[in-house]
Amino acid sequence: MSADTPALPDGFIVGASTAAHQIEGGNTASDWWAYEQAHPDRLQPSGSACDSFHRWPEDMDLLAAAGLQAYRFSIEWSRIEPVNGEFSDEAVEHYRRMVVGARERGLEPIVTLHHFTNPAWFVDGGGWLHSDATRRFVSYLERIAPVLDAGVERVITINEPNMVAIMHRVLAGDAHLDNGLGGGLPLPHEGVRDALIRVHQGAREFLHTRHRGLRVGWSVANQAVQFVDGGEERASAYREAIEDVWLRAAAEDDHIGVQAYTRTVFGPEGKVEPEAHVARTTTGWEYYPAALEEAIRHTADVIPGVPMLVTENGISTRDDSQRIAYTRDALQGLGRCLEEGIDVRGYLHWSLLDNFEWGNWEPTFGLIAVDRETFARTPKPSLAWLGALAADRRL
Ligand code: BGC
Repeated sequence: MSADTPALPDGFIVGASTAAHQIEGGNTASDWWAYEQAHPDRLQPSGSACDSFHRWPEDMDLLAAAGLQAYRFSIEWSRIEPVNGEFSDEAVEHYRRMVVGARERGLEPIVTLHHFTNPAWFVDGGGWLHSDATRRFVSYLERIAPVLDAGVERVITINEPNMVAIMHRVLAGDAHLDNGLGGGLPLPHEGVRDALIRVHQGAREFLHTRHRGLRVGWSVANQAVQFVDGGEERASAYREAIEDVWLRAAAEDDHIGVQAYTRTVFGPEGKVEPEAHVARTTTGWEYYPAALEEAIRHTADVIPGVPMLVTENGISTRDDSQRIAYTRDALQGLGRCLEEGIDVRGYLHWSLLDNFEWGNWEPTFGLIAVDRETFARTPKPSLAWLGALAADRRL
């Protein structure tokens, strides 16, 4: 890193992200746990995951020792409310201790309130489409007040609601997964979309009233949608349904979480696959670090003035030097945005740990490797690299 690379603005945080179900282990009351048990043919089970429910102090120690300044983790609703209306004080105390533990280590805890998993009872009882969904979510938020009051300044209400509304179709076995655009993800379920927007905005109002000064937003899975000649209409229809409507719903938020990994390109016939020589990551996605810059610029265009936090960006690779190269390029794009005055307040790498990738243990997004049997943590060179960048304050 040389002195002519952009300096990080004061207050800009560099950290890493995780999600409860992907690392904690034993989330037996969640809907995902139930899917994993019901479909062993399709999904590998999360099981004990990375055992971070017990090993979170070690995770935070490694993150802080590397020089990172923030840790994004999620609260598992199904631990707080395993049965409708029955709350666990022990679980609340667990997450409260995590917030205190982060602060003690000099880390800002950025807390996600919902990251893909639900209590099984919530889904069995109608999920987001139930007329009481906002009240149910808010009554969970009421119970976690001691967690938020222990030192949380920024929350993400719902992680990637656009993916939640897409997964709703997939998990419900919807026969109409074809989006009519010639490739790409299925379009989000519209009823679930409208419900999630209501829940998010209701939660924001509740949190603002109950926790003065708490900054509230949600995080959107950005697709860096592009087109080649003749693909413009498909690209704009796709981008509107999958991304822009979700960004506009955040126009009054305190921040927006940007989450970018790769791009989606449309041509006259539909989605254009990368040419054979183009590198792909181990999840099969095109290696495209410029996705982050594109996502930041696009978000700034759709909701100008809403401060951004990069809440996820990273790569699944077995080659850690490729992770560093990818992240360096992505951060240089972020630096160009900062230099132009685009308001980005932080960068949280996905992920701190190699973890449970939703039914699949193969992908390795982590800055730290985790032994699947002993749970021993082995930091990769990328962790020290990102920590040094955070300490050096230069991109
Ligand atoms: C999700 C994470 C996931 C990551 C990599 C995001 O869509 O929020 O839970 O592990 O991408 O696929």
